[in-house]
Amino acid sequence: KQELLQTARETLEANWRAPGFSVPSGRLYPFQWNWDSGFTSIGNAHINPQRALREMETLFTGQWANGMVPHIIFHSEKETTYFPNFDFWDTTVNAGAPQRPKTSGITQPAVHGFVLEHLLNTFPDDAATIATVKALFPRVVNSHRFLYIYRDPEREGLMFMYHPWETGRDNSPLWDASMDRIVIDKGTLPAYTRQDTKIAAADERPTADQYDRYVHQLELGKRNGYDGPGIFAESEILIQDTLMNALLIKSNASLIRIGQRFGFDVGELEEWQQQSTRAFQQKLWHEELQTFVPYDVRAGAQIAEREIGSFTALSAGIASDKQAKILNDYLQSLHDRGFYLCPSFDPDSPHFDSRRYWRGPIWPHMNWLIHDGLKNYGFGKMAEVVRNDAIHLIREFGFYEYFDCQKNTAPDLTQGYGGDQFSWTAACLIDLIE
Ligand code: DGY
Repeated sequence: KQELLQTARETLEANWRAPGFSVPSGRLYPFQWNWDSGFTSIGNAHINPQRALREMETLFTGQWANGMVPHIIFHSEKETTYFPNFDFWDTTVNAGAPQRPKTSGITQPAVHGFVLEHLLNTFPDDAATIATVKALFPRVVNSHRFLYIYRDPEREGLMFMYHPWETGRDNSPLWDASMDRIVIDKGTLPAYTRQDTKIAAADERPTADQYDRYVHQLELGKRNGYDGPGIFAESEILIQDTLMNALLIKSNASLIRIGQRFGFDVGELEEWQQQSTRAFQQKLWHEELQTFVPYDVRAGAQIAEREIGSFTALSAGIASDKQAKILNDYLQSLHDRGFYLCPSFDPDSPHFDSRRYWRGPIWPHMNWLIHDGLKNYGFGKMAEVVRNDAIHLIREFGFYEYFDCQKNTAPDLTQGYGGDQFSWTAACLIDLIE
């Protein structure tokens, strides 16, 4: 255990950069990523509390005037080994985007509310923690306001995403049907060169067709200043995602508790929270599959797949006790069948791919969230399985980005994929072990 923790500490140390943030993985992702930073802070709190706070402060230096916290903050403009770089995003199309640091033009799951609460609970009486949380509170609320204003035009209480990168689950089969609706015109799609497949194995990453569509959606955002109404009007991908909405709800709840502690006005947060929780329950539970699923706004239908986002409803406290038991029993059945938990996509689906990014592999920060959710609902046994599987995979195979959920028996076969020396893998391990 001590050795594992030591490696985790060294990983976080090696990934720390000026002006005060962690790269997810030095080679594959050489800038600051939004939700990565959140989970990294949670782990860093155990070993370097100052850095945990700093990571959040640095992230918010990239916040836009409209409230959006971008998914990437390009603290270095000299680094050229990542696509799409800041110049490709060209955020000058929106007057409210900061000139420095440069950023991307889309967002990522709203983890910051619950990250701040986690830091506050870890150091409830620490003056620096209290000061940082108080200073960031209105900025985090403003980032939620962005989602409710710009991503919920019909005021349903559920935010939409239009780019799979926003969900963090880039190539999940959930988005396949929407991606297929996009017709790529090679004549108008700007030329680009991928960098990711030079660093990670191509069969562990999204495909070339998917990248064309990611670029197509980026261009659609750019044409619309990254927040214009044209996005809702034009985009073929328009989805109310389970995970993005669940984490928004989880963070709303954290912000309400933080606000109450410090005597801030939480009226607006409470209104959002009530409406969102109800809408999530009403619109995203799939009766037949007995699981939460995203809603495809463009198609006007639920996306009928079993997928990991459903379980984040536990961590956000959205599921009823009955629904929670159903989700717990499903995880139990996968465990009984010999899978490591928690596969990112339904292993019984024809779309399942045990190596390819979000089409099957296990992601340690998802185990962190699901462990948290199962514990909250009193499913201690399954929470332990989820925790132990993450620790086991990291101990056996290294600090990878994601892992195979199928138990291989060949002794020399690796089950760790994607980037290595990964920050949130190290951070979540530390928090799960401590
Ligand atoms: C990538 O580059 O693969 C990221 O997931 C996009 O943010």
